[in-house]
Amino acid sequence: MARAALLLLLLNFSVCSGFGFRSCSQNYAEADHIWCFNRMIVNISGVVSMLPENTTAINLSKNVIRAIPPGAFARFAGLKHLDLSQNKLFNLKGEEFKSLHLMVSLNLSCNNISNIHSNTFEGLTSLKVLLLSQNYLSGVFGLLFYLLPAIEVVDLSLNRLRSFSCEECGGSLTLKYLNLSVNNIQKVNVSCFPALTYIQLSNNTELELRPDTFDSNQQLSTLLLQSVKVEGLMGLSGQTKRDLIHVSFSMFAEKSPWMICDVLREMDNVSKVEVDLKGSKLPASNTSLLDCPTPPTLIINEAKLGNVARLSSEMSSTSKLYLINCGLKQISNSTFEVFTALKTLYLNKNSVDIKSDTFRGLTELTFLSLDRNRIRNIDLRWFVPLKSLHRLSLMKNEITELEPNVFHALTQLEQLYLQFNLLKSLKKKTFSNLYRLKKLNLSLNLICFIEEGTFQDLKNLRYLDLSGNRISRVTPSILSGLKKLTHIILYNNRLHFRSYEAPFIHLTSLEYLEMRYQGPGGSGIGDIGPDFFKGLQKLKCMQIGNSIKMTVHPGAFAPLISLKILYIYGVNLKDTNLTAVLLPLKGLLKLMLNRADLDTLPAHFLPPNNSLEILRVQSNHIHTLSKEILDNLPRLRVFDISENQLSCTCDNAWFKTWAINNTQIQVPYLYNLECDNGRSRYLWQFDDKACSYDQISLTLFISCTVMDVLFVFVCLAWHIQGPTMRFLLLMVKARLRGRKRGAGAKFQYDAFISYSSKDEDWVMGQLVPNLERPDVGAPRLRLCLHHRDFRPGAAVLENIEAAIYSSRHTICVVTRSYLQSEWCSVEFQLASVRLLCDGSDVLLMVFLEEIPEHCLSPYARLRRIVHRKTYLLWPENPVEQDAFWVRLKDTLKDSKDLDEEGEGDVGGEQWLAPLIG
Ligand SMILES: *[C@@H]1O[C@H](CO)[C@@H](O)[C@H](O)[C@H]1NC(C)=O
Ligand SMILES: *[C@@H]1O[C@H](CO)[C@@H](O)[C@H](O)[C@H]1NC(C)=O
Ligand SMILES: *[C@@H]1O[C@H](CO)[C@@H](O)[C@H](O)[C@H]1NC(C)=O
Ligand SMILES: *[C@@H]1O[C@H](CO)[C@@H](O)[C@H](O)[C@H]1NC(C)=O
Ligand SMILES: *[C@@H]1O[C@H](CO)[C@@H](O)[C@H](O)[C@H]1NC(C)=O
Ligand SMILES: *[C@@H]1O[C@H](CO)[C@@H](O)[C@H](O)[C@H]1NC(C)=O
Ligand SMILES: *[C@@H]1O[C@H](CO)[C@@H](O)[C@H](O)[C@H]1NC(C)=O
Repeated sequence: MARAALLLLLLNFSVCSGFGFRSCSQNYAEADHIWCFNRMIVNISGVVSMLPENTTAINLSKNVIRAIPPGAFARFAGLKHLDLSQNKLFNLKGEEFKSLHLMVSLNLSCNNISNIHSNTFEGLTSLKVLLLSQNYLSGVFGLLFYLLPAIEVVDLSLNRLRSFSCEECGGSLTLKYLNLSVNNIQKVNVSCFPALTYIQLSNNTELELRPDTFDSNQQLSTLLLQSVKVEGLMGLSGQTKRDLIHVSFSMFAEKSPWMICDVLREMDNVSKVEVDLKGSKLPASNTSLLDCPTPPTLIINEAKLGNVARLSSEMSSTSKLYLINCGLKQISNSTFEVFTALKTLYLNKNSVDIKSDTFRGLTELTFLSLDRNRIRNIDLRWFVPLKSLHRLSLMKNEITELEPNVFHALTQLEQLYLQFNLLKSLKKKTFSNLYRLKKLNLSLNLICFIEEGTFQDLKNLRYLDLSGNRISRVTPSILSGLKKLTHIILYNNRLHFRSYEAPFIHLTSLEYLEMRYQGPGGSGIGDIGPDFFKGLQKLKCMQIGNSIKMTVHPGAFAPLISLKILYIYGVNLKDTNLTAVLLPLKGLLKLMLNRADLDTLPAHFLPPNNSLEILRVQSNHIHTLSKEILDNLPRLRVFDISENQLSCTCDNAWFKTWAINNTQIQVPYLYNLECDNGRSRYLWQFDDKACSYDQISLTLFISCTVMDVLFVFVCLAWHIQGPTMRFLLLMVKARLRGRKRGAGAKFQYDAFISYSSKDEDWVMGQLVPNLERPDVGAPRLRLCLHHRDFRPGAAVLENIEAAIYSSRHTICVVTRSYLQSEWCSVEFQLASVRLLCDGSDVLLMVFLEEIPEHCLSPYARLRRIVHRKTYLLWPENPVEQDAFWVRLKDTLKDSKDLDEEGEGDVGGEQWLAPLIG
């Protein structure tokens, strides 16, 4: 009984270790990174003030923040990265980022900022990256760059700048990257940025460039000028052109007297050219488009090319050629004839008509992309010359069927992308010969049937994506041959299983399985039987759920001995025995059970000594939590219970206290957890003061009931078995007395003084001198005072308990502050427990002030004692004070004598009589 009561108290008050924040969560493992994005945050102060001071990165993206108070982040002296993009900031009034001397990157993109005060960025002496894209800035404010001595990257794209001059905003010796695209800039001056290597000026359609515009930027290597008059680029000085490595520009071919080759003249070092030919009409026989030595990487966008017999007549050393959205139609065996060194060929967004020998000679090609070309059928002769091809992309075409052996020539192929086509089925020989294939993506087709043995040759396949199809069955024979497969994605299909199935039995290397969202409109995933996961002993991560019907056999997860991460989302697990299902998962690190209709969490749902670090049970209907759950998860670091309506009653009082005061386990969004009843809106606000007393009252109630029953029983026995009982009782009494004396001899102190630190003056000034001063001829009274006699290093509770049990009495010095102090109530309760357990009423109450009875209402036990008048009131009148001390000392001494003489027959009520006076 004593132990149980003590345990109750310890549970209530143990300051073990939960913490959490408002609208933010700490990124586990990278504890100095805080994520607060997408949380509807309006008032930044209340959110930021809770975060730990040693935070180095805060992401406040996608909220509705309108203003940042001055110095809002000043607490975080070590802050390095701050993301405030996608908010509603409109005016930066200054000093927002004060004291952030270590900040490296600041993202203010996608706000409504139109005005920035000149000292907004003051003190950001380490800032390297400043992103201000997508705002309403019409000018650059103050000496921005002087304030930022380490700045390297500035993005001002998508604003309303009409000009940009570094002389107005201060120069910079460190700025390397400047993005000014999509503004209305007409004049640009970047002469005071000597370190500039990259400048993006595209889509400033009225921009005028002088020949010497970049003469001071001797490091400039990338110049992007799409939709800017090409004359500006051509007119640049020879020095500027010679240094360029990457350029992009637009040409309106039919209006311009020049061709691409004219523009590239003098750019001897350029290695990457991106040309936009939007709106241009090229002559029908445009063999001269690229009749010059073209750079290693050439990207041509939006040219209306049509049928192209040959792109160039000059031999080319270009290795990467991109012809994107160029209206290409017929291409023949001579189109790429001169591009013998080609390694990458992109023909996306055309309508190419490929001949059987189109790719003749491209033996070096490693990557061919034919996305969005309306291809319906693939001729198996196309790929025959492509002996080196590693990667083939055929996304977003209209392929309905793949011939047998269609890729058989591609023996070096490692990656094949077929997503977004109209494939309805896969046949046995479709992927024959692809022995080296590692990655195959077949997602977003209409596949409903896969023939057995389809993947037979794919002995090296690691990654298979079949998501977004209409597959209703996968069986061991369908998946046979995939010995090395590590990832399979079956997301969004129509799979349905029966309890006897074991579909993955051959996938012995599988590490990742994703099979959520089965059966839109169908019968759901069905029964996960005892053999379902057989063979998956290497599986590390699994996602399952979002399906109408799913039952899990209790032994289903037994083969998953390596599982570390498990997501079960959007299924009804109410009737599943979680304890039985999860029991085999000894190595689990992360468990996500979101939207699983859970009402409770069983206390022991993982095996003992499990290694779970992250538990998320978001969006369920959990109302109360038991402490046992956490006791059984010794390594837990994140416990996410957000979007559950917790009941704010005494049942959860422990959780509130623990969640706020522990330091090890994060409760994400703790200050957003809401109550299910109207008393307070949030869990953290709920007043649990009365709860700990409720529990002690309950204990008292139960023990009284037990005693009553015992008493009735004894009376009955007495009545019936009078003489025998009387004898027995005497025996017991003698025993007890013996033991009591034994215990009495051990008392180290006469009284333990329980008081609030606010009343220290009275205790030290009055009580201690008066009680410890020996009367003539009497032994000195020994008092136990916490600041004096507590063993340093031992837990506070341990000390309190020891003090109460090694003192004959506990004197509670009751004042208003005593009643408010948590530790004092512990002391009081422990003393009450002692009364209950070994029958010694050790409590002496000394009231220093009159406390109205209604103030005592939550302190049920205290009230009961007050009603019994077993207390002393400290008299204000000095004349009466002497009498007070005499009475108090008598009480302490009397019972001491009694104890020592062994005449313990006098009950508590009797020896307290003198107190009543
Ligand atoms: C941050 O400070 C707390 C103590 O205030 C400490 O426990 C924690 O380890 C620190 N975190 C980092 C990442 O330094
Ligand atoms: C923002 O929150 C802080 C602290 O929680 C509070 O003092 C302040 O008044 C709030 N500001 C606004 C505008 O609501
Ligand atoms: C912040 O969060 C947004 C939204 O999820 C994300 O796009 C962005 O990359 C994050 N920023 C950083 C610096 O991680
Ligand atoms: C830039 O201009 C081109 C046309 O020249 C247009 O296609 C593109 O969308 C523009 N970019 C932006 C970001 O507005
Ligand atoms: C290219 O194709 C044309 C017509 O299809 C054919 O006459 C010619 O022989 C082919 N050239 C080579 C080298 O195969
Ligand atoms: C759940 O399974 C566990 C372990 O097999 C078993 O001890 C427990 O009784 C089961 N609970 C229910 C409600 O069936
Ligand atoms: C957390 O601990 C502090 C100091 O130990 C205490 O003042 C506070 O009341 C505790 N909070 C809760 C919710 O118990």
